[in-house]
Amino acid sequence: MAWYDHAIIYQLYPKSFQDSNGDGVGDLNGIRAHIPYLKALGITAVWLNPVFTSPQVDNGYDVANYYAIDPTMGTMADMDALIDAFHAAGIHVILDFVLNHTSDRHPWFQDALRGPASLYRDYYIFAGHDGQRPNNWGSFFGGSVWAPDPSGSGQSYFHLFDRRMPDLNWANPEVRHAMSDVADYWLQKGVDGLRLDAFIHIAKVKLDQDFPVPTADDAPVLAEPFYANLPQVQTWLRPFCQRVKADYPEVFLLGEAASANVQLAAAYTAPDAGLMDSVVTFRYFPEDASGLDQQLPAQYQAHPLDLPAFKQTQVVWQQTLAGLAQPTLYWSNHDMPRLLGRVAHSAQQAQSLAMLMYLQRGLPIIYYGEELGLTNLTLPDVATFEDPTVTDFVTQATAAGLTTEAAVALVSTTHKLPARGPMPWTDGVQRGFTTGTPWLQGSAAPVASAAEQAADPTSMLAFYQKLIALKKRALFQDGDYHLLTTDQASYVYTRQLDDALAVVAVALEATATTVTLPEGHYRPLLSSGSVDLVGAQLTLGPDAGVVLIREGEIK
Ligand code: GLC
Repeated sequence: MAWYDHAIIYQLYPKSFQDSNGDGVGDLNGIRAHIPYLKALGITAVWLNPVFTSPQVDNGYDVANYYAIDPTMGTMADMDALIDAFHAAGIHVILDFVLNHTSDRHPWFQDALRGPASLYRDYYIFAGHDGQRPNNWGSFFGGSVWAPDPSGSGQSYFHLFDRRMPDLNWANPEVRHAMSDVADYWLQKGVDGLRLDAFIHIAKVKLDQDFPVPTADDAPVLAEPFYANLPQVQTWLRPFCQRVKADYPEVFLLGEAASANVQLAAAYTAPDAGLMDSVVTFRYFPEDASGLDQQLPAQYQAHPLDLPAFKQTQVVWQQTLAGLAQPTLYWSNHDMPRLLGRVAHSAQQAQSLAMLMYLQRGLPIIYYGEELGLTNLTLPDVATFEDPTVTDFVTQATAAGLTTEAAVALVSTTHKLPARGPMPWTDGVQRGFTTGTPWLQGSAAPVASAAEQAADPTSMLAFYQKLIALKKRALFQDGDYHLLTTDQASYVYTRQLDDALAVVAVALEATATTVTLPEGHYRPLLSSGSVDLVGAQLTLGPDAGVVLIREGEIK
């Protein structure tokens, strides 16, 4: 059993955690100062979003130097000290590893721009001629995946994300080698894991084909089947992963596989696949689009979670990966709105949903601030999003009759950026995050500070501490998962290890519901909302949840 089979991961967004030098951007020394907080929370690993030198077009996912720390975050010496301090506290460190693309400021790309004779030209994907786009594929960040070669060759270069983030050409063995060397550099430093960013996109089909679309329009279209989860992803990554595992058997490889369904997740994480240890899918949260306002574009409207479909999804992932690999368990991350506000509409419901998610079989990934009950910020204006898709949405929404303020407020609840707000440490200036001006500003719903919550046994923080302590029990780490009832009004499952049995029961609707438990006497270990147990009859109030242990056999 490796350490990561039982990891409880905290996703820490360095820009927003703690600023130690007053420039308004969180930094490595700021993180180091809060290791006691993380230790008290009980997590066993942190995943740091990117900290490498970057023009910050995509908040660090546009890396200009994989071997250096971004100056706003600190120095390499600060990084070494941070890794050491985490290790001294018994916390493992997982770094974000951006392998699908670099920044356009990266020296490889700068050299490639010298033209076809550059030794680095083939590190990237240049194609086409006479300024013609090679195909109609669309970028995840809007527009075409092609941008004109600024050096005037008439070719275009490929970017799946922003145009300032050119894709690396993984078909080139030199690229594969170079990225292996980057991994090696960090692993030699003692880093315990890598989160492989957007790895499912490293392979593309032949470029000279348009994606078939129902209209004759030549506007770019998302063409995922042409650039996601292709077989060569596995062919190219296997030697990378195998080299990591051969040199550092204890290193955890966590893949970001946004569009992977459960079969692909199984293929990526099966022990004999020689690839990842675990993956994060974005398919966990099926949405209900039935109530959308037809007058407005769909993209930034609130899509409620389709609870019956969500429950089914969880069950399928639990069962399909049982005995194969650890699923990841999460409610939020930096690419989606926060749990409280998106799915949960009260602190109590957020607690119930946290029990539901994290006590399943798998690895919790708790997004920073979730343990305090943070919600998305409301950003002040359209410009703050720096996102053309938001500008388009707001333009269309105002044409349909919304005020700009209302449209911005709506996007603030559904966009990823407002989920990246600063941590509220205290009630002081800028809530203790910075003495300067925070890099991201917006209005925040009132939430008690970390300091206040740490002193309050009824706080959200205290709840998360208890939940994490429970998750560390062998029963919740290694116990079998079994779905208890198919009733749509609740999600009820058991975890069982030898004679020990626990029931996790959460109401999914805003009405009371009753569940009949397997025979035995039960004792509540943790609960949220109104819970009533009479013999084996459990009644959950609206949005309530409870963890019960069968008496006499506690593991
Ligand atoms: C991943 C990251 C996301 C980033 C993208 C490009 O999906 O999670 O934040 O924008 O990759 O690196």
